[in-house]
Amino acid sequence: MGEVVYPVPTGWDQAALVDAQAYEAMYQRSIEAPEAFWNDAAHRLDWIRPFTRVKETSFHEPDFGIAWFADGTLNLTANALDRHLERNGDRVAILWEPDDPSEPHREITYNELHADVCRFANLLKARGIGRGDRVTIYLPMVPEAAVAMLACARIGAIHSIVFAGFSPDALAGRIIDCDSRIVVTADEGLRGGKRVPLKANVDDALRQCPGVETVVVLRRTGALVGAVDGRDIDWHEGVALQSSDCDIEEMNAEDPLFILYTSGSTGKPKGVLHTTGGYAVWASITHQYVFDYHPGQIYWCAADIGWVTGHSYVVYGPLINGATTVMFEGVPNFPDPSRFWQVVDKFGVEIFYGAPTALRALMREGDDWVRRTNRKSLRLLGSVGEPINPEAWEWYYRVVGEERCPIVDTWWQTETGGIMITPLPGATDLKPGSASRPFFGVKPALVDNDGKEVMGAGEGCLVMTDSWPGQMRTVWGDHDRFFQTYFSTFEGMYFTGDGCRRDADGYYWITGRIDDVINVSGHRMGTAEIESALVAHSKVAESAVVGMPHDIKGQGIYAFVTTNVEVTPDEALRKELIQWVRQEIGPIATPDVIQFAPALPKTRSGKIMRRILRKIGENDVTNLGDTSTLADPSVVDNLLANRRQLT
Ligand code: WTA
Repeated sequence: MGEVVYPVPTGWDQAALVDAQAYEAMYQRSIEAPEAFWNDAAHRLDWIRPFTRVKETSFHEPDFGIAWFADGTLNLTANALDRHLERNGDRVAILWEPDDPSEPHREITYNELHADVCRFANLLKARGIGRGDRVTIYLPMVPEAAVAMLACARIGAIHSIVFAGFSPDALAGRIIDCDSRIVVTADEGLRGGKRVPLKANVDDALRQCPGVETVVVLRRTGALVGAVDGRDIDWHEGVALQSSDCDIEEMNAEDPLFILYTSGSTGKPKGVLHTTGGYAVWASITHQYVFDYHPGQIYWCAADIGWVTGHSYVVYGPLINGATTVMFEGVPNFPDPSRFWQVVDKFGVEIFYGAPTALRALMREGDDWVRRTNRKSLRLLGSVGEPINPEAWEWYYRVVGEERCPIVDTWWQTETGGIMITPLPGATDLKPGSASRPFFGVKPALVDNDGKEVMGAGEGCLVMTDSWPGQMRTVWGDHDRFFQTYFSTFEGMYFTGDGCRRDADGYYWITGRIDDVINVSGHRMGTAEIESALVAHSKVAESAVVGMPHDIKGQGIYAFVTTNVEVTPDEALRKELIQWVRQEIGPIATPDVIQFAPALPKTRSGKIMRRILRKIGENDVTNLGDTSTLADPSVVDNLLANRRQLT
């Protein structure tokens, strides 16, 4: 089969920071001499006490550990704000576009952002928050979310952002896990014209969290919300009393910067912990090279700050690099499917970074919504969060980018802190659907199920054989789980959980998760989490959840449910369970299909045979594989007879 390859567009290689030759040379040096490479690269930051040690990492027991620049000290906010003030204080740091286009947008300069961050940092201090304390942030996409993050970094507090679409229960679990004494929220969020009752959710969650002493409430919609005396304070009233000067806290490179909860294949969501120095180097260097960022350009990453993409590529990477970063409160199709491109035109966006799920949804609406906008400012497009199917890639390339803009399909994870496998726009010929080549310092490998490395072209589990500065350092409160989850499957290697193919040109093609994690609209969901939500319902005895193909979301959620014997499953119960899961976790976990099953397929030792359920979810039932080890093979006949026919 002839493979489609799009060469680096004319002119791009000359104008870009890195062309093909430079990429090869830099990549080789980063692998052969990582100490020297990262020593140089880390000088992109301002250090308070310069580091003398660079890389101290081992993926092996007994000396397992990951530390970068360990004896250096710095402050992340000083790098993201203070150092830009003298020469570029009047440059716009955040260009904020509200949900409703008729509401005025906001332009916040570096000077203004610095003052806002200092005031909020002082407010945090006034509430007794300091170095090492955890601050839970449950905010919509408003500039104050970035202010709160940077204020934490300024005083050495650790932020834990909880996506504003999560339910009160999910929020409470995350507050309790990291023992936050403070929650920062808004009265309501606004998305696609709909209001999200954030403060009410917090009030609800806090019934389970007696340790929370302070709730800061930003007025966004002005809705009437209750206030608890002594606990709740109004953001603007609170900061009005504070000075716009706040000394920076001198942080060690390995001091924690943030916790971000993410789903794994088992158990509760894990608190992924990132530290200061290595993360800052990684977020900024990847932002600069992958997006070929030149100072002064208008850059827009459309991710929510509730996910890692928002952390690294809406806030930290761009601001460390002195960029103008667009922050968008709304959704792609409100008020109409032209919205993304209208915002591109409004601000003259040059670099746009978005998720395949949004592109697929917009593609379905037809080209006219795109074509009626100008988009001449665009020079580069990015994709993140899930595999981009070649059809969506082509549409992005031809219709949105008018064959002028390279597409960087960036593969990475919450755990990796930033982009790992990606084209560089001036260096890499593009193949639709491939994340292409490793970034500097990234050593990917493919291994078979026995951990034996697959050489050359082939397929296997994607692992990393060495550390990179942006790597997560631990699971909050459970270092053993960190080791077990990522380093015990294959000895001495970081296991990504993804399957992958490498072609003869050394390009990587991610094939998707190979563990019990599904990727719904670019959001990671552990099937175990959805299952435990379902079995928490009084009428449910047992449940198993698998992924299913979905045109827009990439993957949908297919739940098999066995009810208690006295319950007759019906349409009403189906609706009730869907509602229940939305309440327990949040709307992103809404099951697409619930199939009632009198029993689940189990081995004689009682283990659910997920392979069979996955096949049913994928509607690929011609070959279910070996079912002879099932305790009761007739269970499968029932499942097949009642499966949801996917069209
Ligand atoms: C998937 C998001 C294919 C992958 C930054 C990974 C991708 C998981 C891509 C991490 C891509 C992310 N192509 N798959 N370009 N980017 N993924 O932690 O399965 O929310 O393991 O981080 O998303 O999701 P997470």
